Amino acid sequence: MSMDDVSISKRLGLPKAEVIVRTAKIPDITAYFDIDPPGHPLPLTAPFDVRNFPHQKNGKDATPRLKWRSDVGDTTKHQVASLTFAYDTYRELASEAKRAEEVSETVASHIWAGVNAHLGTNANSFAELVEQLGVMRFGHRPTVSDTFSGSGQIPFAAAQLGCDVIASDLNPVSCMLTWGAFNVVGASDAQRKTLDDDQAALVERVKADVDALGVETDGEGWRGKVYLYCLEVTCPRLVGRFLCFLL
Ligand SMILES: C[S@@+](CC[C@H](N)C(=O)[O-])C[C@H]1O[C@@H](n2cnc3c(N)ncnc32)[C@H](O)[C@@H]1O
Repeated sequence: MSMDDVSISKRLGLPKAEVIVRTAKIPDITAYFDIDPPGHPLPLTAPFDVRNFPHQKNGKDATPRLKWRSDVGDTTKHQVASLTFAYDTYRELASEAKRAEEVSETVASHIWAGVNAHLGTNANSFAELVEQLGVMRFGHRPTVSDTFSGSGQIPFAAAQLGCDVIASDLNPVSCMLTWGAFNVVGASDAQRKTLDDDQAALVERVKADVDALGVETDGEGWRGKVYLYCLEVTCPRLVGRFLCFLL
């Protein structure tokens, strides 16, 4: 769910090393950082503020820099960054973070070694995990059948997790929503491009029809987006004339 500290750090983005050492408790910063300039007498144990340890450069005060060591991996960097977390509630911490799906699939990349060791799988994504667990338990990828699919959110989430999915509903509007979830929201880039092209072609056809009706534009490319169609009728039984407006 990308709620663990390393995932949250990925969702927050990595702070500068100088910011990390200001609050993180690190017994030996040289395990993670190179000091620039080398040999600068910075404390080796964080927290501390590098700005309190200036050195002379070209006759002026200069602040030493910390750079991640080249052998420190991404997960370790985020583990170190998470040492700065100070919060009472998850909401407080997550309020500044991006949503997991906004980051990238690598937001959970650090979990798979532990998950695989625990479950006896060899997965690097939820889809692979679901498939492998399905094969272990049932001999095939799991199928989720939602016969009351409504908005379609349950079969959509199941498909996202890598299940095969069957969905149906008595209500045609629900069927349309479920269809839209899979074929519009969940469409591939190529399918989205086809949809966009079809939509643009339809807009052009409607524009051509509107122009053929002689509806005016302002001459500078602006045109009405919504038209009222007004029909005036005389009721044969009631006295009076009526206007019917259609949007
Ligand atoms: C509570 S909603 C389902 C909500 C859905 N799980 C969602 O997340 O949006 C129940 C759905 O069951 C459908 N339904 C009710 N009776 C049904 C039936 N006999 N066969 C198929 N669908 C039915 C309704 O049209 C409605 O969309």
